[in-house]
Amino acid sequence: MSTLLTTHGLTLAFGGLVVANAIDFELQAGERLAVIGQNGAGKTTFINICTGLLKPDAGQVQFVGQDITGHSPRSIVRRGMARSFQLPQLFLEHSVRECLELAAVARQGSLSSWLGLGVASDRAKVDAMLELISLRDRQHELCINLPEGHRKLLDVGMSLMLEPRLLILDEPTSGVSTEEKHEVMAILMRALDDRQVTAIFVEHDVDIVKRYATRVAAWISGAIAADGAPAAVLADPVVQREVLGV
Ligand SMILES: Nc1ncnc2c1ncn2[C@@H]1O[C@H](COP(=O)(O)OP(=O)(O)O)[C@@H](O)[C@H]1O
Ligand SMILES: [Mg+2]
Repeated sequence: MSTLLTTHGLTLAFGGLVVANAIDFELQAGERLAVIGQNGAGKTTFINICTGLLKPDAGQVQFVGQDITGHSPRSIVRRGMARSFQLPQLFLEHSVRECLELAAVARQGSLSSWLGLGVASDRAKVDAMLELISLRDRQHELCINLPEGHRKLLDVGMSLMLEPRLLILDEPTSGVSTEEKHEVMAILMRALDDRQVTAIFVEHDVDIVKRYATRVAAWISGAIAADGAPAAVLADPVVQREVLGV
């Protein structure tokens, strides 16, 4: 096994509120880590620090053995750690296909060449991704008209176009109906397997966690309260009381 992501003593406070409390964490290649925790526990903050959107007050983040603490989100993406785009407003007026083309160009690092799209290798990559995320039939639809489940799939497809080693998904099924959730997750996980991408996903639905996670980390008040095999973490009395509200 090889270590992809490590944090040592990661600490951040907003005003007097400690939202990351000396977090030590390690993720191995190939893991499917579900992050659970009540709203406000600090899950998104942790992701934001790892992906460069927030700088910690103290501690380090390492990715594939390199210190990336405080590096810009762009440089971190370039090293192979991506998070889902969450379809910014900019993309809503574009078609599904155009979004994937845009991501393919972003991977090359020159948005200015977007107008010159149609490079054969990019076209083939976009076709393969449309197939992988089951959106081939909707490729010409505008994003604004997509149901939430399809938006999530496109979102992940765009991130995978960047060819990351690690993809971090912050609540990939939020806003998706209960009936649709399992199908969306099944397609997402198949896509991650196909591209051999390691993943961290924040998820509130325990059924989804049980089904798709190889490991679970439970966040309480800016710290990891339990971390390990899904069955053990979900059965932990503190997790049951403080996180799952059982
Ligand atoms: N930029 C910010 N400024 C001040 N407080 C913040 C900021 N971002 C998050 N917080 C606070 O930090 C805590 C953790 O938030 P967050 O990491 O988003 O939690 P989670 O993702 O687990 O719901 C919350 O109390 C939230 O209000
Ligand atoms: Mg959050």
